[in-house]
Amino acid sequence: MNLAIDCQGLVKRFGTYTAVQGVSFQLPAGAIMGFVGPNGAGKTTLIRMLCGVLVPTEGRATVLGYDVLTQPEEIKQRIGYMSQKFSLYDDLTVRENLDFYAGVYSLQGKMAKEQKTRVIERIGLVERTSQLVSSLSGGWKQRVALACALLHSPQLLILDEPTAGVDPVSRRIFLDLIHQLAKEGMTILVSTHYMDEAATCDYLGFVFYGHLIAFGSPDEMKEKEAKDNLDDLFIYYVENEASDDPRNLALKKGGRG
Ligand SMILES: Nc1ncnc2c1ncn2[C@@H]1O[C@H](COP(=O)(O)OP(=O)(O)OP(=O)(O)O)[C@@H](O)[C@H]1O
Ligand SMILES: [Mg+2]
Repeated sequence: MNLAIDCQGLVKRFGTYTAVQGVSFQLPAGAIMGFVGPNGAGKTTLIRMLCGVLVPTEGRATVLGYDVLTQPEEIKQRIGYMSQKFSLYDDLTVRENLDFYAGVYSLQGKMAKEQKTRVIERIGLVERTSQLVSSLSGGWKQRVALACALLHSPQLLILDEPTAGVDPVSRRIFLDLIHQLAKEGMTILVSTHYMDEAATCDYLGFVFYGHLIAFGSPDEMKEKEAKDNLDDLFIYYVENEASDDPRNLALKKGGRG
């Protein structure tokens, strides 16, 4: 099987705090995977290690066949990363932002022009190119950020909570775009707090206190554990995990904090 991501025992410690505790999974190329988990679970930390921007404390991972420890630059060239707090320039237009990111990805001349035209059309920004980013709604900003992440035709797109705080209609449009990209062969890793989005993924990873407490296809996991919906499934896995960890008692008692 052609794997887009293969990680074994990934650990990240910040001082004495362990944010990611031995995460292992294998994601086939061409699939959409969702990370789901509460605030502080370790999703962004995990994503940043897979992007080659944060060095794991322990464990190993290959992304698109390249080692995160020894070949991070190879990975960065081949992935599109839309970070949780993505950075667009508010005082520049949509096109100027694309120009800037084309430079970041070292796209020049004819190639840069073609790639910009391609993403502008692909993401539906034709009518918006001269608009200042500051004047766009949250949903449109998200789409511009996606366009920037796609400029260099990445094989793997990594999106960290791309739809947080966006209205339901914009979320749906964004999700449809992601699915179209996957149909065209792109592998996608997305973190989300929205279970309706998670339900559309081919694979889900539930992240809790730095652990990957479950990994698999949403439908298969629901069937295996006899749960009707992903909320119940997530709570079921958390309670299993929580049974011998005193930090998690609050959750067992009904709290999520
Ligand atoms: N650079 C850092 N130094 C110290 N602690 C950090 C650092 N980065 C993250 N952490 C801690 O690691 C834990 C996991 O954080 P992370 O941002 O990965 O969670 P998350 O699942 O992405 O949360 P959210 O849903 O809020 O985005 C948190 O407790 C966070 O405070
Ligand atoms: Mg995060």
